[in-house]
Amino acid sequence: MLRMASHETPIRVRFCETDMNRHVSQVSYFIYFEEARTRYIETFGISWTEGPFNMVLVRQWADYLKPAHFPDELVVLTDIISVGRSSIRMAHRVVPAGAPPGTDVMCQGESVMVLVTKDQSASVPWPSELRARLAAKADPTLAVPARA
Ligand SMILES: CC(C)(COP(=O)(O)OP(=O)(O)OC[C@H]1O[C@@H](n2cnc3c(N)ncnc32)[C@H](O)[C@@H]1OP(=O)(O)O)[C@@H](O)C(=O)NCCC(=O)NCCS
Repeated sequence: MLRMASHETPIRVRFCETDMNRHVSQVSYFIYFEEARTRYIETFGISWTEGPFNMVLVRQWADYLKPAHFPDELVVLTDIISVGRSSIRMAHRVVPAGAPPGTDVMCQGESVMVLVTKDQSASVPWPSELRARLAAKADPTLAVPARA
């Protein structure tokens, strides 16, 4: 895989993120995905506490390919795959920090978030200017291939 991610989130594995098999637990990868997409979205000026909207997660999945351990240094590569009326679909690939392009991915998956009203009762369309900036980063070829 080429290292062409739009956004990189460094992660140092904490002991509490591992399980009794001594590798990073499946739950921890979803926390890494959350940290990655949260930070990436913030770069577009979206606030989690201010403004008229909120964002919620409606879908995520992962494939676990190679184990990571305490205290590995990892990076979550996050890309926007597509932007809908109110949704945004993102790809996450977890690789060792400093790894050269083409290094095996340890965990990969996708998440879909939706822009919602402040009370989170309904989706709302992206404001056009924000949608344009998000869509400019979208690359459908970076979707994570589903395993057969
Ligand atoms: C987000 C929520 C308010 C949306 O309800 P809604 O207004 O009826 O939304 P819609 O059904 O019109 O879907 C809104 C968008 O999300 C997309 N979407 C919804 N569920 C999806 C899913 N499971 N997978 C992929 N996309 C999904 C729709 O395709 C639509 O995309 P678009 O607007 O870009 O075309 C509602 O689904 C909800 O409250 N979900 C629970 C969120 C939650 O608790 N998350 C956990 C922690 S944050």
